[in-house]
Amino acid sequence: MGALWLRQFLSGRDFALGDPVAVEMRNQAYAIGDEAARQAVLVDPAHGAGELVELVRAEGMEVVGVVATHHHFDHVGGRIGGRRVGGILELLEVADVPIHVQRVELPRIARSTGVSTSSLVAHDSGDVVAVGEVELRLLHTPGHTAGSQCVLAGSMLLSGDTLFLDGCGRTDLDDSDPAEMYRSLRRLAELPDETVVLPGHRYSPEPSAVLSRLRSSNIALRLPSEEAWLAASGLGGRESGGQGAGGQGAAGRESGGREFGGQGAGGRADPAPPA
Ligand SMILES: [Fe+2]
Repeated sequence: MGALWLRQFLSGRDFALGDPVAVEMRNQAYAIGDEAARQAVLVDPAHGAGELVELVRAEGMEVVGVVATHHHFDHVGGRIGGRRVGGILELLEVADVPIHVQRVELPRIARSTGVSTSSLVAHDSGDVVAVGEVELRLLHTPGHTAGSQCVLAGSMLLSGDTLFLDGCGRTDLDDSDPAEMYRSLRRLAELPDETVVLPGHRYSPEPSAVLSRLRSSNIALRLPSEEAWLAASGLGGRESGGQGAGGQGAAGRESGGREFGGQGAGGRADPAPPA
């Protein structure tokens, strides 16, 4: 496997500065690839997608693809209220690259972004996207949406809105499934201790954390049974105000916003934390 190259970008700080939606959503987009091959894919370019391409190119890296963790506008672009987030449609204007998605998510991503299905590559869980000699394994983790996926590269887990450092993605949205979320979280919890979790939003002080710590600090990984999970999360039915184990919180946010201290890895458009 080649030398992993990883950058993390916080919306409203590292890109899309002054964009109130980008500031509010606190998305963490990523570029990940092979340092020697000088190739990378972008994960979840939504706000300022063209700008993200330029940030990667400014480091002498070629953008050779995109991985979309799920269909929400703050991960792939689309309409929110009266606004349009450029996302992958904007990105394709400056980089004609394949967009890697889970098979079940493909129709919704095409519909919400306006991107042609010919630009979308459907994957099944466990598929590998090769970037130079670096392998990105796509893990289907339904729950937040039906076709949510995470990216595993070595010990780096880009967890989208499936797993945050504190809590997890909402399970009260139209194609959410709290029971599926429980099973997805259990699978992620079984990854090796040293796995570095890099979530799709900055809802905690740190940008990332090791899984061995999250198993005890993150309530979404601690509930012992599906029954306890469903009871604690109120079946994911609350749109706002509630804060169950599933991390549902105020509308417009993806988590309950609980915070905790501790060490992180990465930072301001930082180089990859050590694998
Ligand atoms: Fe989401």
